[in-house]
Amino acid sequence: MAPLTRGRLRVAGELTVPGDKSISHRALICAALADGTSEIRDILSSADVQSTAGVLRALGVSIPALAPVMQVTGAGRRALAAPVADLDCGNSGTTARLMAGVVAGAGVAARFVGDASLSRRPMRRVQRPLEAMGAVVELPDHGGLPMHVRGGALESVEWASDTPSAQVKSCVLLAALAAGVEATVREPSRSRDHTERMLASMGAEVWVNDDAVMLFAEQTLSPLELTVPGDPSSASFFAALASLASHGDLLARRVGINETRSGFFAVLREMGASIELENAVRASGEHVADLRIATGRGLIGVTVSGAAIPTLIDELPLLACVAAYAEGETRVTGAAELRVKESDRIAAVVDNLRLLGADADELPDGFVVRGTQPRLRGTVVTHGDHRLAMAFGVLSALPGNEIAIDDRECVAVSYPEFWADLARVTGS
Ligand code: S3P
Repeated sequence: MAPLTRGRLRVAGELTVPGDKSISHRALICAALADGTSEIRDILSSADVQSTAGVLRALGVSIPALAPVMQVTGAGRRALAAPVADLDCGNSGTTARLMAGVVAGAGVAARFVGDASLSRRPMRRVQRPLEAMGAVVELPDHGGLPMHVRGGALESVEWASDTPSAQVKSCVLLAALAAGVEATVREPSRSRDHTERMLASMGAEVWVNDDAVMLFAEQTLSPLELTVPGDPSSASFFAALASLASHGDLLARRVGINETRSGFFAVLREMGASIELENAVRASGEHVADLRIATGRGLIGVTVSGAAIPTLIDELPLLACVAAYAEGETRVTGAAELRVKESDRIAAVVDNLRLLGADADELPDGFVVRGTQPRLRGTVVTHGDHRLAMAFGVLSALPGNEIAIDDRECVAVSYPEFWADLARVTGS
């Protein structure tokens, strides 16, 4: 297998990617619901996490400015105040869906709003379980935002999700936690498990098996002591870039390797990449390691479906981009959820790849990309979607490509320093 990128690209050095976005949201929320003062280190300071901080402040929680070391004093699980204004979730689905659960369980009433992208995203998936628990959730006909949530005395629930979704699972668990009732959530396959890990690390009684998680009634949370791991979704862009490079050697420090999140690294290895784990440790209930990514390897196409999909759901646009430089065909199915992310990520990634000159087709629930080592030219339409901007940002660094990105600033949602880090490791 020869390395497939055209020309020489050196990717080298060390990188510390910013804190995990999913864990950062949960850290603020769980700290706000705990009894006492939590310490959170290395929280992601990005637009999405600012949205969660802003919503918690509007509910009367004193959240200081996001900082590398910050303290949050919680007032216990039912101490939220009714907000006087709309809860603005910006672009963040995690904020809207997790906080809908908190508001319902805390017995207050609130109206959730967001930007144009978030306002189109499906909220019936949280409406149904919250109403089954006894909350009132009103949505417009299209099922998105604005969403009115009115909490009350919620009841215990056993909820079976038809799609794996950590946002739905966490919404139900947080509603039950705030209301002091019991909840069981079943999923067709396991979604990211940060909420249950964090609740357990704060002393809550949580029971987990392969397809279900249960939170017992009347749990209280001790303060959180957490160093947020580096975000594996953010590290994935650089794992992909180094795997496509002709020479160099990249070390990404302190990356979260929770197995419900690390599917992209496994798939990249299956394609022929070399990603070695060093200094693996367990901290605050999460697994963290340094990733050493080799260059000059050459990649082959891969098939991804089934239970693997939730473990790399946010990395699938990046996989499609990498696949254009892998020998043979890459096929992804069982990923219809991609159509309801920050953009329709199936249509958007395939349209952009084709527009630039790659060979790709949409499937109803995924995509096919044939690796042709294309020389790509044109302007990517991101639809304001941070992960599209960064996935094509990786391709823009490959020699011979002339790719512009229509909205480079949208990376602020999850990885504000992305372009600076990209320039640094490529020496450009
Ligand atoms: C997230 C869960 C996933 C993921 C999103 C973050 C979370 O969404 O795509 O970026 O933090 O719980 P779903 O729950 O909709 O699958």
